[in-house]
Amino acid sequence: MAEPIQWLDGKLRILDQSKLPQEQKFVDLDNYHDVVLAIKQMRVRGAPAIGVAAAYGIALGASGIETANKNEFLVQLNQVLQSFAASRPTAVNLFQAINRMKKAARGNSIAEIKRSLINEAKRIHEEEISATKQLSQLGAELIKNGFTVLTHCNAGPLATAGYGTALGVIKAAKEQGKKLSVFVTETRPLLQGARLTTWELMQEGIPVTLITDSMAGYFMQQRKIDCVIVGADRIAANGDVANKIGTYTLAVLAKENKISFYVAAPTSTIDLSLSSGDQIPIEERSPDEVTHIQGVPIAPEGVRAANPAFDVTPHSYITAIITEKGIIRKPYTKGLKGMCSLSP
Ligand code: MRU
Repeated sequence: MAEPIQWLDGKLRILDQSKLPQEQKFVDLDNYHDVVLAIKQMRVRGAPAIGVAAAYGIALGASGIETANKNEFLVQLNQVLQSFAASRPTAVNLFQAINRMKKAARGNSIAEIKRSLINEAKRIHEEEISATKQLSQLGAELIKNGFTVLTHCNAGPLATAGYGTALGVIKAAKEQGKKLSVFVTETRPLLQGARLTTWELMQEGIPVTLITDSMAGYFMQQRKIDCVIVGADRIAANGDVANKIGTYTLAVLAKENKISFYVAAPTSTIDLSLSSGDQIPIEERSPDEVTHIQGVPIAPEGVRAANPAFDVTPHSYITAIITEKGIIRKPYTKGLKGMCSLSP
């Protein structure tokens, strides 16, 4: 399978995740409006992948600005940056990418700035590839031979434009020769687990069992799960973790059943500017995603529905946070700060 995000001849090619697994369709995006839309509509999704797509989208937006006046160019570039900032609020990788692109918008001429933005986007992409490879190698040490791992949502190559985070750790453990199997929660409302994670694991030849979200407690109680590993969309300075809705429920169940609960994320997902998870903005998406499954209505017309896309797991439920710079355990405030100050 070709890479899910590619920069090709000045265009952004993405694998449309909303069509998987039924259809493996690549789409070429040649203007930044389409990239913003692809992020909003979750045709590209997953925290690191959103950051990478936005970086290329900003480069695309800059390339499309036609003025020869540098000040006017910078005003228009700022509008591009703002459109991306308004696309999805929770994954901090998006905002880290926007800040880096803003800083990279330097040069004597407009042409130089445009080139510099393309190069910075490529660098962000390469760094995510290498960070996810590295954290997967480190995290694999936590997975013992014969383990059954439970994961939620999708944190593989699709979500990272790299090797994967939670799934990267699982893949690396398999590459180390360990025998393991994975329970995957379907992840309502948008079914990232059922549609994407099972698909990615099956391609890797890793045994996978799909369950509905509500079955997780049963299997933990039955001692069928050895550890839980998930990705993250934003990690606050105290180690609180925002991830796909339902993650908090799994963390509470894991603690109740004395099962290790790991979070795997590159340091680009850490937001030291927020002291705790209650400051993380939680995206509220359309209620249609709850009242419908893949466009098919499943509830009475007109019923009220809520749709927070993420929740926050307090750090006290987390056994360890796996990053490319090392595995962090409590106290997280000290560990996360130390890890972020290390050079890449
Ligand atoms: O709404 P999504 O599908 O973008 O949410 C994705 C998740 O919650 C992932 O678990 C997270 O981004 C980690 S991806 C490596």
